Amino acid sequence: MSDDDTEETAVTSEKLVELAKRRGYFFQSSGAYGGVGGFYTFGPQGAALKGNVEDAWRDRFAVAEGNMEIDAPTIMPEPVFEASGHLDGFDDMLVECPECGESHRADHVVEDNTEYEDAESLPIPDVEEVIAEYELVCPSCGAGLAGQAVETFNLMFETNIGPGDSDPGYLRPETAQGIFVEFPRLKEYARNQLPFGVTQIGRAYRNEISPRRSIIRTREFTQAELEYFIDPETDEPDLESVADVEVTLYPASEQNEADGEEIETTIGAAVEEGIVSSPWVAYFLGVAKPWYEAVGVDMDRFRFRQHLSGERAHYASDCWDAESEVDGNWIEMAGFAYRGDYDLSKHDEYSDDRFTIFKQYDEPKTVERATVDPDMSYLGPEFGGDAQAVVGTLEDLAARDRSAFEGDSVEIDLEGETHEIPVEKTGFAVEEQTEAGEHITPHVVEPSFGVDRLVYTVLHHAYREDEVDGEERTYLELEPEVAPTFVGVFPLQSDDALETEANEIVDDLRAAGLSVTYDDSGNIGRRYRRQDEVGTPFCVTVDFETVEDEETTVTVRERDTTEQKRLPVDDLAETLAAIRAGELAFDEL
Ligand code: GAP
Repeated sequence: MSDDDTEETAVTSEKLVELAKRRGYFFQSSGAYGGVGGFYTFGPQGAALKGNVEDAWRDRFAVAEGNMEIDAPTIMPEPVFEASGHLDGFDDMLVECPECGESHRADHVVEDNTEYEDAESLPIPDVEEVIAEYELVCPSCGAGLAGQAVETFNLMFETNIGPGDSDPGYLRPETAQGIFVEFPRLKEYARNQLPFGVTQIGRAYRNEISPRRSIIRTREFTQAELEYFIDPETDEPDLESVADVEVTLYPASEQNEADGEEIETTIGAAVEEGIVSSPWVAYFLGVAKPWYEAVGVDMDRFRFRQHLSGERAHYASDCWDAESEVDGNWIEMAGFAYRGDYDLSKHDEYSDDRFTIFKQYDEPKTVERATVDPDMSYLGPEFGGDAQAVVGTLEDLAARDRSAFEGDSVEIDLEGETHEIPVEKTGFAVEEQTEAGEHITPHVVEPSFGVDRLVYTVLHHAYREDEVDGEERTYLELEPEVAPTFVGVFPLQSDDALETEANEIVDDLRAAGLSVTYDDSGNIGRRYRRQDEVGTPFCVTVDFETVEDEETTVTVRERDTTEQKRLPVDDLAETLAAIRAGELAFDEL
């Protein structure tokens, strides 16, 4: 991207944020109290656009894929996040300014001011070294940061469940955990059959060190996530259906080369050539690309980038991000991660429930199983309260390593202490058993979408400026499927007959399921500009011809071309509904 492009888009972003506030897309929350960093309110236009994007996501990733949707609480108890690894490992690097005391993300300070593109994956001492070497300064006050300690900062928001502080809870940092913890029940709803998918659209919370760039990095945001549970041995995606989808990929291998480049390919070829190693991840990239296009992401400013090894979350073995270009930078809109059995294994280990699924064999199998049946009259007096733990340890050992029982005694490790137990007291035996199946831990493939960043991208990519009748105009070329309002209806001027007719048309259009706004204030040109600026695809004007002519007609104006057509009122609702559904085009009328 050239410097010129960067400048041009940066200006657009500033204008977009101003428009967003003025026209009710989004603005910083609690402004009356000075505003609070990282929290944004979606105004009437923004809430409608976001809702339409969420509906479009639900249609594609839940309904069309045959997945279930759930709605779990946003606060979850501490053990959930001990198991998931978020309490231990969900950290960012923090550096504090010695002068003004402001906290900054150390990796962002490095990335913004040096040639390092992925400082997040550097160890802390290296980041401290880079800060010193480049003499980096505080972005707020300009004081030098060299010599300041870089520390880890956990992003979880903590709270107390109920009175007192004995029951800590956390606001979920990803909607995913609300799905994982319910797996034992969800698998029943899926009739214990893999593969199956569960989606959730909801809020996630991260106490970001430095929230920035309006709704791109906030402390409360909306995710739309799909957790797809598979049997890694046997389940295969329907790759055929997305094999021809053309994609721009930026694999880790290319990012690691000085002259590395993005690759233009298809999903089918990317899998065949091993560029995307998991066919499941590739499948969801293939589903996502046309969906992003349909909701209005500019495909010339879109790519999938593979995570570098140091960048991956603690649970992911491979991850590709969907990235869009805004302000001359690439931003991450979604991650497509192969989470393996990490989450279900952890919850299985930490909770009292089982996070496995019973996989029936085609034919029952006869297998040899090593079992123990310990003599409790020996273990009880020897180990007291630990006797049951000893039984568990012996069972695990027998399943894992039969040779441990070959001598006269077997050695076990209990809480760091080694104990010898006579083999004859363990009841060790190898038996033939017929088994109908086995318990397996499913693997998880996760497309995780950030709704706010997508809304930002859609607005940014839709922002246009042109000249109409010698006047400058700003408009949003939003896709009809996501535009907050589909039609604006105006009486040409203040007149009872025109207003009555216009209101009847509003009722008809709303009854046809269209989102309609009525506007009778200001001259007609200003009303058009207002709707253009919020991205309303069509405006209908009721004038004197409408009420006086035998055939009742109105002027319908299309946003992008400003072309106007005279259409009969009788089938107006039907015509506009067909356009919204993509069954008819305005220029065909
Ligand atoms: N369950 C996986 C997960 O949460 P992630 O990459 O951390 O993965 C997924 O988040 C998406 O959520 C990101 O691609 C991004 O769009 C969005 N997201 C993450 N942090 C965000 C923040 N602070 N503000 C706005 N959106 C954010």
